[in-house]
Amino acid sequence: MSAFDLEPWTAHHTDALEVALDAFLSPQALCAAGPVRPLHLVDAMRYAALDGGKRLRPLLVIAAFEAAVGRPLGSQDGAVVRAACAVELIHAYSLVHDDMPCMDDDVLRRGKPTVHVKFGQAGALLAGDALQTLAFELLTPEDGSVAPAVQGRLCGLLARASGCAGMAGGQAIDLDHVGKALSEDALRHMHRCKTGALLECSVRMGAVCGGADAHAQEQLAIFGRALGLAFQVVDDVLDVSADSATLGKTAGKDAQNDKPTFVSLMGLAQSRQYAQQLCEQAEQALAQTGLADTRALSALARRVVQRSH
Ligand code: IPE
Ligand code: IPE
Ligand code: MG
Ligand code: MG
Ligand code: MG
Repeated sequence: MSAFDLEPWTAHHTDALEVALDAFLSPQALCAAGPVRPLHLVDAMRYAALDGGKRLRPLLVIAAFEAAVGRPLGSQDGAVVRAACAVELIHAYSLVHDDMPCMDDDVLRRGKPTVHVKFGQAGALLAGDALQTLAFELLTPEDGSVAPAVQGRLCGLLARASGCAGMAGGQAIDLDHVGKALSEDALRHMHRCKTGALLECSVRMGAVCGGADAHAQEQLAIFGRALGLAFQVVDDVLDVSADSATLGKTAGKDAQNDKPTFVSLMGLAQSRQYAQQLCEQAEQALAQTGLADTRALSALARRVVQRSH
């Protein structure tokens, strides 16, 4: 298979995603008609979700779709763009709440003051709430542009990945274990829930939109699961090895908050090696999908492990 250049592919799709997110987060799209509008809330939602972030999850949705359907994303694929934006909105909400004083208590995110610093705690709480529900609004448009069966499947996947068995549950396990050791198995489970679930879900949503067959969906899910865990292992590594300016968030926060991480459990070198192993597992699953062109997914997996922020 010919070489694949991830940079132009990412730039093209990221530009389109920014435009779509901006439109979905416009005051006109968000606010009900009425004598008064919650413009402070709209500002906080836009601040949290626009202008920043690597957009990895929506890029995974698009890459999985393109692999499943065997052609580039086109203007007719509005459902895919909705799915991609929906998962990014859930992610943005999770970051807003993760940074609040009652959780990780962080003041820097995506190179800017965190949402609660800028809009207050009630503002951040509500922005997170509204970003979360907006994700499901995007998946259930009333204009007939997403088939009802696809709407149901996408909502189910995203809800399960975000809730008690996914991101929110993982965050609860994380907070319950401040200052406590976790076994490698328990740490893996926590990371799979708090971060991995949403990455796996991104791949699965793209596969559903692309109508992948059951076998390809299963292998893509295995790919997403390995990649999701690798992503959080690398996040733990970067927390100790990169600086705040590069990360756009406060470095050294895990040790400061006494969080159980892969680095605290097995050290830096072994964590890096483990992330690499997971990336190889992910690539093996991709090779089993039977799909003709998985180069974008493969390149995104490598980027997850090689990234500097
Ligand atoms: C950070 O995710 C939070 C984790 C789940 C570890 P990202 O590193 O994808 O954050 P952005 O979206 O690029 O800001
Ligand atoms: C957060 O993990 C995962 C989420 C669900 C937001 P971290 O707490 O390690 O994420 P960062 O390092 O603050 O981005
Ligand atoms: Mg956290
Ligand atoms: Mg955090
Ligand atoms: Mg972290």
